[in-house]
Amino acid sequence: QLILDTLEKSSPIHDTRTLTIPGQPSPAASADAQITILGALNSLLSREIIRYDTHETISHVLTPEGAQIVLEGSHEARVWAACPAKGEGAPISPGELKARVGDEAAKVGQGRAFKSGWIAKEGAGLVKLVGSIVDTTQLQLREVDSTGTLEGGEKLLAELRKRKLIVQKKGQWFAVHKGSSFTTSIAKPETDLTVDMLTSGAWKTSTFKKYNFEADGIPTSGGALHPLLKVREEIRNIFLEMGFEEMPTNTFVESGFWCFDALFVPQQHPARELQDTFYLSDPSTSLPPPSDYYKRVSAVHVDGGYGSLGYRAPWSDDESRKLLLRTHTTASSAAMLYKLAARCRGEDIDDEGRVIGGAGKAREEGDDGFRPAKLFSIDRVFRNETMDATHLAEFHQVEGVVADRGLTLADLIGFMRVWFNKMGLTNLRFKPAYNPYTEPSLEIFAFHPMLRKWVEIGNSGMFRPEMLAPMGFPEGVRVHGWGIGLERPTMIRYGISNIRTLVGHKTSIENVENSPAVMF
Ligand code: PHE
Repeated sequence: QLILDTLEKSSPIHDTRTLTIPGQPSPAASADAQITILGALNSLLSREIIRYDTHETISHVLTPEGAQIVLEGSHEARVWAACPAKGEGAPISPGELKARVGDEAAKVGQGRAFKSGWIAKEGAGLVKLVGSIVDTTQLQLREVDSTGTLEGGEKLLAELRKRKLIVQKKGQWFAVHKGSSFTTSIAKPETDLTVDMLTSGAWKTSTFKKYNFEADGIPTSGGALHPLLKVREEIRNIFLEMGFEEMPTNTFVESGFWCFDALFVPQQHPARELQDTFYLSDPSTSLPPPSDYYKRVSAVHVDGGYGSLGYRAPWSDDESRKLLLRTHTTASSAAMLYKLAARCRGEDIDDEGRVIGGAGKAREEGDDGFRPAKLFSIDRVFRNETMDATHLAEFHQVEGVVADRGLTLADLIGFMRVWFNKMGLTNLRFKPAYNPYTEPSLEIFAFHPMLRKWVEIGNSGMFRPEMLAPMGFPEGVRVHGWGIGLERPTMIRYGISNIRTLVGHKTSIENVENSPAVMF
């Protein structure tokens, strides 16, 4: 309103710093006042009530130390004031002076007061030399505070800047002209055209706020990878840079045959019971597995072979055909190994494991058909667990499998050392363990640098001949593997203590969006 009233009286306003707010003592010269004015100018500009030009200035503002001097006087003036007049009372000691004016003021102020001839030394103390002083520093700072500059000019300003009592500040001021829709009465413009305006006809006389096509929009939120996906990606890259190939793991539903029988897990094993494994009710049974292989597997379970006694327990076709949610990705590894051995068996098989080529076709004379392989998978598995802060009924397994002639336990340990090293776990220990499908088996413990303790991180072993021989691998081919969970390293990496914060409906989308890249 002040701008409009001033323009009405005499247009244009050459310099907004000369505007005087009625009833207020100082003119609108300060940088803050100009910022307020700019806001008003922009709102008037959008309605074409005014036009304006911007001019840049350099002005000065006080530092906190400068502001303190305006209130309390300069350091030198305070030192002078603290000293007794010459011949009146004992000279003030350095310690006393510090106590009275503070360390900083005593140090800086003494030098300046000496130089101005205000004080002198007497014995070990100080006394006043003159009866009155003019505190030029304080006066100059007062002037800067109210005008942003000094009449005395740049040299004096430069000295105050050097003393760190003032700093330069860029400022703006404006020249204002009447606009095409100039008026002194500013009605709040309408922002929306409403039904009421249309029916009453008020829209004809209303003023509308102009659209601001320059305005920044609301930031859009993009997609974000879940922490599990980030960790999965990093582990996948570790496998890939070591020359491993990813296995297909799209079979969440498996048969008892592939999840257990093929792995030489006895049909009576407790892991196969209802309280540990989820079974499907509809459909409840699988298609039959490849028949020759099925016969060899059931034979090794019941009667043994390849140097093994077998379990010598009854065999149930039904148990083998039960459909279930896979309890480990080793079920997929078994299917892949069976496929890898196809050429050793002299068969060609398609992606579903069906034989498509005749015996002997797949290989040349003197070739046993075996090709080494390094395989990995990272995918979901399911267990009928009691759920708590660290267990859900579904989680992810990471698994590496290596097949080659003459592999030893030392190769397995070596592979794992290299692999875990790449995840930042350099301190490993191996403990003998038991798996039905591996012998020997090793549990893996790592000294966790973030948790500062030994934690069990995985399981591994050399696959048994009872599993490999029925698949048709030639003698001398050894296969080893190791597995870890995906959730545990992810929770440790992101400092999450409850699994439900990571997976499920309680996951915080905000956490997911803000979680950093992994980098073990
Ligand atoms: N399948 C094992 C598990 O679920 C992991 C494992 C994989 C062990 C390969 C040995 C070899 O813990």
